[in-house]
Formats: sequence, structure tokens, C-alpha cells
Amino acid sequence: MNDYQKTFNARGHLYNDAMSAQPGAREAERAALLDRARMNPGQRVMDAPAGGGYVADGVRAKLGDQVQLVCVEPCARFSAAMDARYHVLNEPLDSVSLPDASLDVILSLAGLHHLDDRMPVYREWARLLRPGGQLVVADVGAGTGTARFLNGFVNRHTPGGHHGIFISEREFSEHLAVAGFFVEEDSMQNVPWRFRDREGLGSFCHTLFNTSRARPEAVADALETTVGLQRKPGGLALAWQLRYASAWRQA
Ligand SMILES: C[S@@+](CC[C@H](N)C(=O)[O-])C[C@H]1O[C@@H](n2cnc3c(N)ncnc32)[C@H](O)[C@@H]1O
Repeated sequence: MNDYQKTFNARGHLYNDAMSAQPGAREAERAALLDRARMNPGQRVMDAPAGGGYVADGVRAKLGDQVQLVCVEPCARFSAAMDARYHVLNEPLDSVSLPDASLDVILSLAGLHHLDDRMPVYREWARLLRPGGQLVVADVGAGTGTARFLNGFVNRHTPGGHHGIFISEREFSEHLAVAGFFVEEDSMQNVPWRFRDREGLGSFCHTLFNTSRARPEAVADALETTVGLQRKPGGLALAWQLRYASAWRQA
């Protein structure tokens, strides 16, 4: 079992706990991914890496049983709480036991920044998609407050640290093109996380990132300083940002 599997097998359940306690916190982030996906009834859709199935749950809420959902999650413990209606594969992202051209849409949220070489994953996604199939992918952009928080505060306060290799400005455009995609969009998006109050913010992120070496209040302080907070009607918005790409498998 390699390091990240140890990490995510150790903290996957905490991640799922945070997501269950505040299921609406990351809604803007997921909606920005699903709004870009052109999914139709009868299609096969893959969520990878799925974690606890957050993206797949969003697809299901939108389309119900009309699409088949495949979830690839390398860490079995992380996927244990997933909806039993999903076809779950506990396999590496770059070696999935599905035939060539067997998928219509691939969705990927916040799961690439622990990989230093992502080309094998992009190539595997190209293999899995039928010609004309769509990939929608999003992850932390290099040089953002989000990146500084994860490799700064989280790295100092979580067992095992956090050493993200974030998405550079041209990576999606250039590397997906090399892998056989036509890249329709590659842009940074503001996808604020929403909380009722500062306490909710602190406890959600403390659990999600397993910052066991800090108190939740200190997590909220660090987020305010590094990422940014705004008062909004009904609560607080954390200025979370991700880079999004939408790309089409070329023939
Ligand atoms: C932050 S979670 C995101 C999970 C889910 N997509 C979500 O949005 O809630 C990170 C995901 O990346 C996966 N992951 C982390 N490091 C990885 C690596 N080196 N190779 C493959 N998957 C990895 C984890 O198993 C986990 O599913």
C-alpha cells in the first residue's frame, strides 16, 4: 500500500464525516463541475477518484437511474460508505478494468494534486472514453490561496503532511491535448464554500483535512488569512478556487 493510500485510508472516513455533517458546504464546487457536463439518459458516467461518492451523488440527484455510474476510488476504506447502486472499482486511476471506449462522460473533482505525473491518468481517461466523449475535471490551481492553505497550514497540522502538486495555468490545455482531447475550456473558477458561521467553517475543515494538530478556531483563522472570508446573507463564504477544464475525446 503506498503513502497516499495509507493517508486516505486513514483519513477517508473523517473526510466523509465532514461531508455528511455539512453536505452543502462544497455545493458550488460540485455544481460548477456538473453544469459543464453534457450527460444524457442511457449514458455511462465515471467519477474518479470518487472518494465517498460526492460527485456521483450529484449526478444521481440530477439524473436518477437514467445514467449508469461507475466510481473509481483507489482507497477501499474511503469508498466504503458509497451508495450501493454505484459500480465501485477500488483501482488505480491509471489502470481501470474497463474496456476501451466504454464510457461517455468522465468527471473528476479535487483528486489529481497528489500525483506528480498525471499523464498516465489523462491517457487512461482517453482510452476509456468513446470518441466524442467528455471529460470534466477540476482541481486546485498552482499559486492560489487554496494551494497555499493546503501546502502551508494543512501540511503543518495534519499527520503525514500535505504535499500537493497543483495544476499550473497551461497543464490541462497542453497535457489533455497530448493525450487525445480537444480542450474546450480551461479556466480558474471561484467556487466559494458556504457555512452558517465561523464555528461551522472551522469544524468542517478541521475534520475534512484532519488537522489534528490544531484547534478548529485556528483552522478558521488560517483560512481567513490565506484563502479569504466574506459575510453573506445566511452566513460565510470561503473564497475557495479551483481550475476547471472541459475536454472532448477526439476520434
Ligand atoms: C480530496 S479527495 C476528493 C474526493 C472526491 N472527488 C470529492 O470531491 O469529494 C482526494 C481523492 O484523491 C484520491 N487520491 C489521492 N492521492 C491519490 C493518488 N496519488 N493517486 C490516486 N488517487 C489519489 C483519494 O483517494 C481521494 O479520492
